[in-house]
Amino acid sequence: MASHSPLDMFEIGAGTSAWGDARAWRYGRTYRDADLKAAFDAAIGSGVRLFDTAEIYGFGRSESLLGRYMAATGQPVSVATKFFPYPWRVAASELLAALRRSLARLGVTQVALYQIHWPLGPRSPAFWMEPLAAAVAEGLVKEVGVSNYSAPQMRTAFEQLAARGARLASNQVEYSLLRRGAEFNGVLDACRELNVKLIAYRPLATGLLSGKYTPDAPPPGVRRLRYRKTLLSNLAPLVMLLEEIGWANGNRTRNQVALNWLICQGALPIPGAISAAQASENAGATGWRLKPADVATLSEASLRFTPRQR
Ligand SMILES: NC(=O)c1ccc[n+]([C@@H]2O[C@H](COP(=O)([O-])OP(=O)(O)OC[C@H]3O[C@@H](n4cnc5c(N)ncnc54)[C@H](OP(=O)(O)O)[C@@H]3O)[C@@H](O)[C@H]2O)c1
Repeated sequence: MASHSPLDMFEIGAGTSAWGDARAWRYGRTYRDADLKAAFDAAIGSGVRLFDTAEIYGFGRSESLLGRYMAATGQPVSVATKFFPYPWRVAASELLAALRRSLARLGVTQVALYQIHWPLGPRSPAFWMEPLAAAVAEGLVKEVGVSNYSAPQMRTAFEQLAARGARLASNQVEYSLLRRGAEFNGVLDACRELNVKLIAYRPLATGLLSGKYTPDAPPPGVRRLRYRKTLLSNLAPLVMLLEEIGWANGNRTRNQVALNWLICQGALPIPGAISAAQASENAGATGWRLKPADVATLSEASLRFTPRQR
């Protein structure tokens, strides 16, 4: 992607939606705050400098934990957080008020990126561009973005921001080798055309691409409902291919290959990690590139083995 987004300075970020989530058991996860702190420290130690959070993650707890961990590290950290357009939020001023609460939880005076979490009504997705531009003008955020916006919605957001002297830096959508919708619904093309960074959420398909889940050992919790047995069976050849390509590229892990494939598409993956080991492994997806032939092989194989993913 010949992009010049201000977010190009980040090869990878770290997702924190699981942090502070009191309902983590729904995903079959048990971990303590100490594990998250260890994940944060490991990510920082491996060179990760961007953390993605949202006011709704853990109802503010993800931002608070991140703020606490950032205060304890001597390293510069960039934060991307999000405004949730709850249906009762109808005034533009609510965006700046919510942003100030996020900044207070994070313990900072500015975030690197502020995103509209979903294009939900009653206000139109474009309505929020005016207060987003105001947030830039006030110096509360460096860049602004959207999330889960369709191609036409992001084009409108782009124009509305440009009319106010601001730029759309990103659209955060689900994108992985198991979810290729962005390639077929116009979002990836629009990002490339407008120099808007595609931030890829659930880049590991919530852990499936690690290969640790199989039809006999399905993922726990709600993920079992999300990914059916047929997908888990079809996944096996793709997981094997990730392993082979990883081995041929200097012993990279399956996760690292899956994340690097996204980086090669021009996307910025933000894998979630709930342990130090996961965080450092995921950071190892950076600093190298798959060969174009490997990228093409993975692209073809993911559609062949797991075709119902648009
Ligand atoms: N904008 C939006 O609407 C939206 C929606 C969803 C997510 N997001 C963002 O995207 C981020 C990432 O999404 P996600 O966390 O749902 O999915 P993900 O990054 O695809 O998967 C993360 C999960 O995979 C497993 N995992 C991670 N690294 C691993 C490794 N090296 N080896 C083995 N397993 C590993 C862990 O779960 P287990 O250990 O339990 O398997 C981890 O919680 C979120 O944190 C959030 O910031 C945004």
